[in-house]
Amino acid sequence: MAAWRDDVRQAVRGRALHAPAADRLEAFDDALIEVDAAGMIVAVQDARTEQGAARLAALADRVAVLPPGQVLLPGFVDLHIHAPQWPQRGTALDLPLEHWLGEYTFPLEARYADADYAARVYDDLVAALLANGTTTAVYFASLHLPATQILAETCLRRGQRALVGRVAMDHPEICPAAYRDDSAEQAEAQTRALIAHIRALPGNDPPLVWPAITPRFIPACTDDLLHRLGRLAAETGCHVQTHASESDWEHGHVRDRCGMTDAAALGGFGLLTRRTVLAHGNFLDDGDLRIVRDAGAGIAHCPLSNVYFADAVFPLRAALSRAVHVGLGTDIAGGASPSMLDAARHAVAMSRALDSGVDPALPRQTRGRGAARIGPVTAFWLATAGGGMVLDLPVGLFRPGYAFDAVAIDPQAPGSNFALTRGESAAQALERIVHLATRANIARVWVAGRAVISPPGSPEEGSLWRA
Ligand code: GUN
Ligand code: FE
Repeated sequence: MAAWRDDVRQAVRGRALHAPAADRLEAFDDALIEVDAAGMIVAVQDARTEQGAARLAALADRVAVLPPGQVLLPGFVDLHIHAPQWPQRGTALDLPLEHWLGEYTFPLEARYADADYAARVYDDLVAALLANGTTTAVYFASLHLPATQILAETCLRRGQRALVGRVAMDHPEICPAAYRDDSAEQAEAQTRALIAHIRALPGNDPPLVWPAITPRFIPACTDDLLHRLGRLAAETGCHVQTHASESDWEHGHVRDRCGMTDAAALGGFGLLTRRTVLAHGNFLDDGDLRIVRDAGAGIAHCPLSNVYFADAVFPLRAALSRAVHVGLGTDIAGGASPSMLDAARHAVAMSRALDSGVDPALPRQTRGRGAARIGPVTAFWLATAGGGMVLDLPVGLFRPGYAFDAVAIDPQAPGSNFALTRGESAAQALERIVHLATRANIARVWVAGRAVISPPGSPEEGSLWRA
């Protein structure tokens, strides 16, 4: 039994920020957050009240106190990342999606037939994401069942909350013979095997790692496979992840083949559920957004990747104003950075570009579409509570009933690019963090109450979260 499942209730005390809504930041100057043996938050209160003082006294040495100057945030939720593309990060971004897949990405993903290679890459990837504060990651793996099982086991061993999908792709026109499912039947059988494997992993109850049904995207899958996976989603209640309306090519391909948009087609296949994550969605129109909203499905906005493959910016504000669930993804390796803080600032910057336009040859009044900007609070919400809402999981907030998944930001860390000044408001502090914090500032990371990243030499390193 893992150490964090012992019966000791623990607490953390310190300055904390979270965003309960897309436009609302809530600050706790001196929070006392109590966590039960399963890593769930049971109480959040002001440590300086009478009741807070009583709880502090009762909990005594079970309270971990954040060092002065540090700020506790909910852990980051990366809604879309391709685990096998990790070795390609930061490279191979010169081609459009339809050529990038065949030229670079399918050959790389095919290498995961080698389970030793998968084990090495995935261990490095999961460690790097945790160090960047990603406490929940939604992974596309490759089409290899053993390598995908290794990814799930790696997440569980390192203590990262994760959704893991074995990629299904059987369409002979899009997928090369060397990297393609033999048949729809076989792809379904392997998906079933992954679901059973993850659900039975020792130590994964209550689940930290979840299986996800993962048709790569409509172009890569036959209708038969898409129908099978839709039925499997209904049968198992599993999350679903796929790419939707990502680029002109992809969007047009689906229109030509299915006679409708991605959203309508995915709905018809039974692949739009409350637990569906659609990556990108740049070309979803009003009708599509309504379909997505009515299904309770969500969108993984991947702002950097969209610049390379979509030649467009996802109309985030339009989606939020229509009550569509949205969070953020890195889309490694279509996006280059594993940092959700980077994704958050990219989301802010891209929204400004969509809002005001970018071509200086056009007059200022007509250069942009307007009403498209978001600010740092919304970006932070997307990276935390918004992502949790997309996944229908209780993560991203410091609230009773939510998991204690958190990062401690240390502005005084070596290599820091910023400082927080006394007297600055919580909104200003968050603005600096969203724009300037890096991996260097992430001092500690907890998932389900377990310390997964701790300063070297600290008493809790690699085990329990408190000294
Ligand atoms: N569409 C289908 N596969 C992929 C992929 O690996 N990356 C991105 N960005 N889009 C895809
Ligand atoms: Fe992707």
